[in-house]
Amino acid sequence: MIELVTHSPEETQRLGKALGALAKPGDLFLLSGDLGAGKTCLTQGIAWGMGVEDHVRSPTFVLLTEYQGRLPLYHADLYRLGTIEELFDLGFDEYLEDSNGVLVVEWADRVPEGFPDDHLLIRLETPSEEERRLTLIPHGHRYEELVNSLQSDVASPA
Ligand SMILES: Nc1ncnc2c1ncn2[C@@H]1O[C@H](COP(=O)(O)OP(=O)(O)OP(=O)(O)O)[C@@H](O)[C@H]1O
Ligand SMILES: [Mg+2]
Repeated sequence: MIELVTHSPEETQRLGKALGALAKPGDLFLLSGDLGAGKTCLTQGIAWGMGVEDHVRSPTFVLLTEYQGRLPLYHADLYRLGTIEELFDLGFDEYLEDSNGVLVVEWADRVPEGFPDDHLLIRLETPSEEERRLTLIPHGHRYEELVNSLQSDVASPA
């Protein structure tokens, strides 16, 4: 587990970028945190780290947006999701099975039963207006490895 505090949106994006650079096909990142906690900001960094050139916006009205980087990035926002059935109607299981891309889900905690056991959980909290506390909790071997690599990257910035 890693806990980090960022002091600006740019710092949160940089952390996302380091994570995106380490992302592999089939990765699943579940983001939880209140409105304005920085989930989209972090996802912008992840996209950047994956070589996505488009600007990532909140996909709140469409639930899922796809971007192309060195891997496909599927960015979902479940804030407006009604039921877990809607999640399956979206074909989420296919995005996961087709493990060519990376799936990042905002408001994943709205459907705690909706996703596989193996994932990286990222909790975002807002201790002050400019600060965000990010807690990265790996579930499964792949994500323990990922968090260890990220920890080394963050400890020794290039
Ligand atoms: N340290 C920080 N890290 C990230 N965002 C910050 C930070 N400090 C301030 N902010 C501000 O917080 C807001 C984060 O917005 P963002 O859209 O990323 O949140 P969100 O969690 O995706 O919200 P929503 O639930 O509405 O999708 C931005 O306005 C950003 O400028
Ligand atoms: Mg958002």
